[in-house]
Amino acid sequence: MLVIEPTGSSCGALVKGIDLNKTISATLMEKLVWALYQHRCLVIKNQELTKESYYQFASQWGELIQHVLDYLRMPDYPEMMAIGNTEEKDKDDAVRNGAAVWHTDGPYIEDPTTMTMLYAIQVPKNGGETLVTDMVAAYEALDPNLKSNLEKLTAKHYYGRAQFDPDEHRPVPIRTKEQATTNAVCEKPLILTHPISGHKALYAVAHSPFEIIGKTKEETLSLLSMLKTHATKSQFVYSHRYEVGDILLFDNLSTMHRAKEQTDAADTPDSDNARLLWRLSAKGTPKVITKS
Ligand SMILES: [Fe+2]
Repeated sequence: MLVIEPTGSSCGALVKGIDLNKTISATLMEKLVWALYQHRCLVIKNQELTKESYYQFASQWGELIQHVLDYLRMPDYPEMMAIGNTEEKDKDDAVRNGAAVWHTDGPYIEDPTTMTMLYAIQVPKNGGETLVTDMVAAYEALDPNLKSNLEKLTAKHYYGRAQFDPDEHRPVPIRTKEQATTNAVCEKPLILTHPISGHKALYAVAHSPFEIIGKTKEETLSLLSMLKTHATKSQFVYSHRYEVGDILLFDNLSTMHRAKEQTDAADTPDSDNARLLWRLSAKGTPKVITKS
């Protein structure tokens, strides 16, 4: 039986009592979709899926995306990425910790990423958490005058071009001209009204916004820095410590997220610090909503 338990943090709910190897009815999908919009992120517990069955489940949430950084893609499933510290690419700190910085997936794409999911295959003995911040709650907590000023503002985005604090990790590096030119600069509102739930949220105030239209460089940096500090206060954040079999999924239109730093690459696939998550992301609307 489906059970949805709020985490007790500003966002997030645990989903128990379902087996995604079984046929997923439209009714169940609809419950999951609305639970996601209500809680911003979900953790579906205790799943034992093959890559194929995981891929099929994820494809219910929209059109799956191949990441712009093509060296992160899995050869057999190019929309899927192995995240963590178990692969050759993860020996490079810049790759291993490229998500250990607050960001939203895909605001720098014209048709933005709407949903991301991470399926825990290997979990380290310590650490390895993903942090998710509730951008609806962060928006709602703003001063009313600031809210109405922000309503009118649009930011320009490009992958990894935002200002970072000196002690922050940097996004996974762009390595080729093709990767650099796949997504042009695009514009997104600072306050986004969710196309399905109608919630208003602060949108993507870290990692990719580098200019607010009509503001000077100094004004842009100061406003984005203030909003990022506000939105990532602990009162808005859910920190998820994985168990093997968890699927964490989040609504990118109403959250930001980051990984905890992973100090070391895993020496062997079965070592205590091994962390492996299969990542899939989608754009567009869940099929069950499109059909209804
Ligand atoms: Fe991400």
